Amino acid sequence: MTPPRVLVSRHVYPAAIGVLQDAGCAIDYHDSRDGLEPEKFASRLRLADGLVCQLTDPITADLIAGAPKLRAISQIAVGYDNVDVAAATRRGIVVTNTPGVLTDATADLTLALLLATARRLPEAERFLRSGKWSRWEVDLLCGGDVHGATLGIVGFGRIGRAVAQRARGFDMRVLYASRTPAPAAVEAELQARHVPLDALLQRSDFVSLHVPLLPETRHLISVAALGRMQPHAILINTSRGPVVDERALIAALEEGLIAGAGLDVFEDEPHVPDELLALPSVVALPHIGSASTRVRSRMCAIAARDCAAILTGNRPEHPVNRETLP
Ligand code: NAP
Ligand code: GLV
Repeated sequence: MTPPRVLVSRHVYPAAIGVLQDAGCAIDYHDSRDGLEPEKFASRLRLADGLVCQLTDPITADLIAGAPKLRAISQIAVGYDNVDVAAATRRGIVVTNTPGVLTDATADLTLALLLATARRLPEAERFLRSGKWSRWEVDLLCGGDVHGATLGIVGFGRIGRAVAQRARGFDMRVLYASRTPAPAAVEAELQARHVPLDALLQRSDFVSLHVPLLPETRHLISVAALGRMQPHAILINTSRGPVVDERALIAALEEGLIAGAGLDVFEDEPHVPDELLALPSVVALPHIGSASTRVRSRMCAIAARDCAAILTGNRPEHPVNRETLP
């Protein structure tokens, strides 16, 4: 029997390749940090039974239509907005992701970004490194308080709840907005209160975003939403760039409608608008939410394991479109 063929779209941790080898797959490894040109991607995918891909790979309906043998698309990330899941489902192709393993690392990074933005850490470090520091001054680089502040969490799933858990350590009051309220036991444990989004925006000192990118969450943080926030409030986004209307955010920061933003994600990555970079009140990171070595290596292995499971007739651990499974 010919072994199932898996296209690995970009450089991965070796764990992924080991898992695919152990499962007896034939591996077509594009071991490069640059993505494949669209035509090359299409021609290599045409021969593949499975795909291990990353959030920088647009897996479109056209690409899927041109891959007659494809049975598995395994994304090395929890978010999968780059994959046309509906097109995959119509073809019976199973899509998988890597939830859970990255929750704590992403929540850690969210708190780091919140603290860095509130207490102006990158600005302070740039000041010191540029040789400008000459003395202790009573009002040098003062920022806002994190302890005791109100944190509004938008999207109260795995990562949102892990952020709430960490916020308790800073004595923060936690509000959250989500379509479905969390069970009472979770609210009690995390001391978090469910409120409508508008109330959350009006009452929070920090607003942190943890929703997936869906048609209904695109530009959830709009001109109107930013207008509801307090002038001293800070927006933290470690979800997906298009959840925030970036032009509206730039205007809100420039006009002093809000005080700052900590951003790990952007609307058109890796492009970061010059206007954002020019603002000292913005802390900008290159989409490193889950970037601990251990976590990223495990994400690679999990995606490879699920891809191999599907191709060898076993159940994957993290299917996104369960309706494709027998
Ligand atoms: P999750 O467990 O599925 O949580 C997402 C939550 O968002 C769900 O509880 C969902 O609850 C809620 N939600 C969905 N639509 C909503 C809406 N319109 N308004 C309010 N809440 C809404 O996902 P997760 O594991 O926490 O991950 C969240 C996202 O973080 C991922 O999709 C990914 O885009 C992003 N992420 C980024 C990084 C990074 O490197 N920066 C790392 C990991 C993840 P309801 O459906 O009940 O509302
Ligand atoms: C990273 O952004 C992820 O969705 O895992």
